[in-house]
Amino acid sequence: MNKAKRAAVIAGNWKMNKTPAEAAALINEMKPLVKDADCKVVLCVPAIDIPAAVEAAKGSNIEIGAENVHFKESGAYTGEIAANMLVEAGVKYVVIGHSERRQYFGETDQTVNLRTLAAVKAGLTAIVCVGETLEQRELGYTETLLKFQTKMALTNVSASDLDKIIIAYEPVWAIGTGVTATAEQADEGNGYVREAIAEVYGKEVAETVTVQYGGSMNAKNADELVAKVNVDGGLIGGASLKAEDFSVIVKAASK
Ligand code: 13P
Repeated sequence: MNKAKRAAVIAGNWKMNKTPAEAAALINEMKPLVKDADCKVVLCVPAIDIPAAVEAAKGSNIEIGAENVHFKESGAYTGEIAANMLVEAGVKYVVIGHSERRQYFGETDQTVNLRTLAAVKAGLTAIVCVGETLEQRELGYTETLLKFQTKMALTNVSASDLDKIIIAYEPVWAIGTGVTATAEQADEGNGYVREAIAEVYGKEVAETVTVQYGGSMNAKNADELVAKVNVDGGLIGGASLKAEDFSVIVKAASK
């Protein structure tokens, strides 16, 4: 394993939080705190916040992401947003297949794959979320599930496009619960993801793909998590809504 082969990325996922004005204020607060980061710093924000966030982040090392993207280029899909719209608005990253979207909005492995293909085609970097429920873990299906979700998400993604793919391992039982996976569980889960990529694209390519951990990552536990060989940064929910906490996590990934 060689961490040096891949970029560490700390990405906030704001979920359904912050108005445009609040988004700009939080980014302005974060900018000086993360300016010396030795990792990529991304904030994935609600769609309505994107223009304000892009404007606030201008000239800084913070890049802006979206939280979802539709898989068609245009058409009669009321309420949806196409990849080229995000690109034109200044978005560089997009979260795809978050467990909240799988749970509440009918997202499936197939639609996750279609969205991933659309994002990559438009030049966005896709942050694809995979993760097992507590029940699946207790039944012993974690490895099978993570490998299946990873391979399904990457169906028809070419090896040359893997540089636009980040996989975020987010155990569903650790999201928003305050229960973090242990560093060993995070490393193991991320390892399964990397193995799945290796099984399809080869070991050498798999070594270059950024695999994040997400799920109650915070200012206190980030150090231990990102120190693990397979953990190339994090996808942060709650703690990304607090400038100081988020900057501590960025610093942990910069060491
Ligand atoms: P929390 O950090 O709030 O647990 O959320 C994690 C997450 O879902 C990031 O996408």
